[in-house]
Amino acid sequence: MSNLAAVGVIGMAVMGSNLARNLARNGHRVAVWNRTPNKTNELVAEHGHEGDFVPAVELADFVASIERPRRMILMIKAGAPTDSTIDLLVPLLDEGDIVVDGGNAHFEDTRRRELKLRDLGLHFVGAGISGGEVGALEGPSIMPGGSPESYEALGPILESISAKVDGEPCCTYIGPDGAGHFVKMVHNGIEYADMQFIGEAYELLKAVGFSHDEMADVFATWNTGDLDSYLIEITAEVLRKKDPRTGRPLVEVIVDAAGMKGTGTWTVQSALNLGTPVNTIAESVFARAISSAPELRQAARAALQGPDAKIQVADREAFVEQIRQALWASKVVAYAQGLDEIRMAGAEYGWDINVGEVAKIWRAGCIIRAKLLERIRSEYADRKLATLLEAPSVAEGLAGSQDAWREVVSVAVKAGVPVPGFAAALAHYDQARAPRLNAALTQGLRDYFGAHTYRRIDAEGAFHINWSTDG
Ligand code: ATR
Repeated sequence: MSNLAAVGVIGMAVMGSNLARNLARNGHRVAVWNRTPNKTNELVAEHGHEGDFVPAVELADFVASIERPRRMILMIKAGAPTDSTIDLLVPLLDEGDIVVDGGNAHFEDTRRRELKLRDLGLHFVGAGISGGEVGALEGPSIMPGGSPESYEALGPILESISAKVDGEPCCTYIGPDGAGHFVKMVHNGIEYADMQFIGEAYELLKAVGFSHDEMADVFATWNTGDLDSYLIEITAEVLRKKDPRTGRPLVEVIVDAAGMKGTGTWTVQSALNLGTPVNTIAESVFARAISSAPELRQAARAALQGPDAKIQVADREAFVEQIRQALWASKVVAYAQGLDEIRMAGAEYGWDINVGEVAKIWRAGCIIRAKLLERIRSEYADRKLATLLEAPSVAEGLAGSQDAWREVVSVAVKAGVPVPGFAAALAHYDQARAPRLNAALTQGLRDYFGAHTYRRIDAEGAFHINWSTDG
């Protein structure tokens, strides 16, 4: 048996070291390297007993310790560090070697890097990896792009360390060049929307007067039904947590300014370029933006009047059920929008992405894992869908939820509780199903002031009239 490592991991920060441990725990001999060797040494000192690690101080020794074609996973800071590390690595490699970027790279960077390495006879695989640090260690959801040939060599090893649902890996070949990172980006965009909806449900429960423990109970109960998901599960835990210093609910002592690393923004930017509507994700990004705009908020708080965000309801339990339905329906719309964006990008970039397979590998391991994804997977497996919203069980579910959904949005609007996510999702639902949209008037206006022409419902071709003199 060869003493060479089956795979190498570059970057021994939290994600990289956990991924290396996951590989080792699954019986793979793993070469490990970090720019500063102390992190590599720490990993081997603390976790060496978990499996077979081959640590290296010099990058050349790391490369030499891996069997060919070499499979190497970069788990380093995205951006310039990825390029500079690739530049150091490439002269040491041989034809057919596979460099995997497991970070959150922008898919356009991945396309550029893939092209560059392909010209050198190397494979470059942009692999989205979701699941946070626990997922990296215990089984993430993995979304690899790149050449189909590279997946033949890489697939079995990645599948072996991914999360599983009924023995099926949460890892599948996504498509060429940037496809994997694109899908991971949209995953994160959907995650933004999921969290925004949860935040809106929390504000509504607060407006009705629920205590944090009561809210935690509501989320815990929701997690036993259709909303069953990782994010709902941890919401119950976060709401129940008390601040060790003051004894107050910890959420109430956290500054209400949400951070972001950019993948949600990328998802919206890319959707704008593709012309595909993702208003739920956009509202989620903007909700974080306004939360982090202290000057605007302070000035507006002093100037603007409105209701006091208190909601009186006769039947609290009934209202909780309505919020649950609004949350479920909005979530469905966000997933539909994200998957529509993936489908559009697949057509634009020639990726031919199987949307049902994407839903399948998101069922476990990743942050947006949810019971809903099994329904989505099976709907896409059964039929070709222009959008998830047309799937029979989905359309039926939305029809059953819409009265509650509309009620929640109207109650919130009247009480001054901001629900941009629920409202955007509902607007998308109503726009998508409308027999006619106000776009006809938009076209009339555009033709009036700019002679942009319009099409007619009863004749082919582009038309223009002089709005003040013709007819
Ligand atoms: P995580 O989020 O997993 O904690 P990260 O911030 O995404 O980590 O990435 C940190 C990793 O990128 C570290 O392994 C770091 O190497 P050092 O430990 O030597 O700092 C690596 N990294 C950052 N910049 C780098 C660069 N310019 N070249 C090589 N590696 C770099």
